[in-house]
Amino acid sequence: MKTMKYQKYAAYPTVALAARSWPDNTITQAPIWCSVDLRDGNQALPVPMNVEEKVSLFQLLVSVGFKEIEVGFPSASATEFAFVRRLVEDKLIPDDVTIQVLTQAREHLIRKTFEAISGAKHAIVHLYNSTSRLQRDVVFRKNREEIKAIAIEGTALVRRLKDESGNRGIRFEYSPESFTGTELDYALDVCHAVMDSWGASPDEKIILNLPSTVEMSQPNIYADRIEWFCRHIKQRDAVLISVHAHNDRGTAVATAELAVMAGADRVEGALFGNGERCGNMDIITMALNLFSQGVDPELDFSDLPRVREVYRRCTRMDIHSRHPYAGELVYTAFSGSHQDAISKGMKAHAISQNGLWEVPYLPIDPEDVGCSYEAIVRINSQSGKGGMAYVLEKDYGIQIPKWMQPDFAEAVQAVADRTGTELSSEQIHDLFHSEYVKLKEPVSLKKCNISWDDSDPLHPDEEATLISCIVQMKDREFIFKAQGNGPLDAFVKGFIRESGLEFSVEEYAEHAIGHSARALAIAYIKIVCLDGRLSFGAGIDSNISLASIKAIVSALNRLP
Ligand code: KIV
Ligand code: ZN
Repeated sequence: MKTMKYQKYAAYPTVALAARSWPDNTITQAPIWCSVDLRDGNQALPVPMNVEEKVSLFQLLVSVGFKEIEVGFPSASATEFAFVRRLVEDKLIPDDVTIQVLTQAREHLIRKTFEAISGAKHAIVHLYNSTSRLQRDVVFRKNREEIKAIAIEGTALVRRLKDESGNRGIRFEYSPESFTGTELDYALDVCHAVMDSWGASPDEKIILNLPSTVEMSQPNIYADRIEWFCRHIKQRDAVLISVHAHNDRGTAVATAELAVMAGADRVEGALFGNGERCGNMDIITMALNLFSQGVDPELDFSDLPRVREVYRRCTRMDIHSRHPYAGELVYTAFSGSHQDAISKGMKAHAISQNGLWEVPYLPIDPEDVGCSYEAIVRINSQSGKGGMAYVLEKDYGIQIPKWMQPDFAEAVQAVADRTGTELSSEQIHDLFHSEYVKLKEPVSLKKCNISWDDSDPLHPDEEATLISCIVQMKDREFIFKAQGNGPLDAFVKGFIRESGLEFSVEEYAEHAIGHSARALAIAYIKIVCLDGRLSFGAGIDSNISLASIKAIVSALNRLP
């Protein structure tokens, strides 16, 4: 095996945090959410959204319940600027929603940003500059003090423009961008300077957003950093600590969750995790993780298909079919043992009294997010007998008895293996018919009359059923009459006598399909021949006696 060049990479520093408290905390309340779909999400799209698409996505975000929405970077492009103006001028921003706009800490960009939000009742001006050691050294070639000065001056200008505007609805957010690459003590120093420059107070809190701009460590280390920061920040009550996690290591949701445990008040993220590189933290996943723990997520994802549709249309991005909570396959079980457990769990849930969702393999009720039970069980070559029995019962009312399920499962498996595809519920139903119900060769029942002789009321069960049949067997047609203690018994006796084929009925089951007077009956049977051969059959008829005789004929036709 070739060894990868792991020596190129250095381990991320841990935090010296005595008696860290976050591992013992639980999340009992949703954080303040802020969607960055229209800014961070949009800037990462191969084809950025146009104004109309941004309006549609904004309206979706509002309908889902976001109260803080970063709508763009209005000083960065004409489209971004036009979109913010459209929101303000067309009064598309509900009174309880605050738009957020991003700007670099440069005078002309800050001024343009204020132009964009002019007339908005509530807005957060979000100022950022990169503070990491790497960016200081190789991108900006500035020392710590010079980088801090950019943040202080930018903040002071935002303060001045807010005061000049007279708009008390303007709030301020500062991000030491690339916080995960920034020394903690330096990030704290910059944030303290920004707080002073803004004049942060409990009445006019500042949002300090500590981004995992690039996810560089395990989530527990990020949580340590957040707890460290919350412990050391001065005037904690003048600050809202916000987190903004990217997903480079695939753990952005865990990062945000642990950060909330560590003291973060606010979480930025995007629907389906859209955003630069591996994406932003997926707000849907985090919100529904809370939901699945019995915590009100304070966002409404009860119609995920609609959220998916608008997102896809506006962003032109795909959603992976295995995406947590939202992917098209996540409420679908292919494996037989899963299908069986889900089927039993659903039945138990239907009669359970405690109101709690407890179905194996389904962490939440698909109906709670607008998905249906219909797609839960699908059949392919990995499926077991439980799955196809569940589908036949749920969709067609056919309750194959347990002793017959392995026989039909074998037939399903053979088709799935041959075609290499998944079988639809309809295909399974057709297969059941072609495998059992429709068989006419080598034996077919041409005619059958059943009558009863109840002349001996003292022995009503004894051989009182008379049967007269015409049966075709290969190229021979024979007619027989027989007596038995029921139609099935009479038919078996007559057929054995005429055909010379010795067999006995080992198992039998029947039930109605449907509830009306016109309901059909279905019978299932297992026969064993004297020579040891065994076979299963099923028959359907409006008359239950005929259904049982047809089941015998079906089993005879399936003898190996
Ligand atoms: O990822 C990041 O650091 C950002 C900042 C602008 C907050 O998007
Ligand atoms: Zn970002």
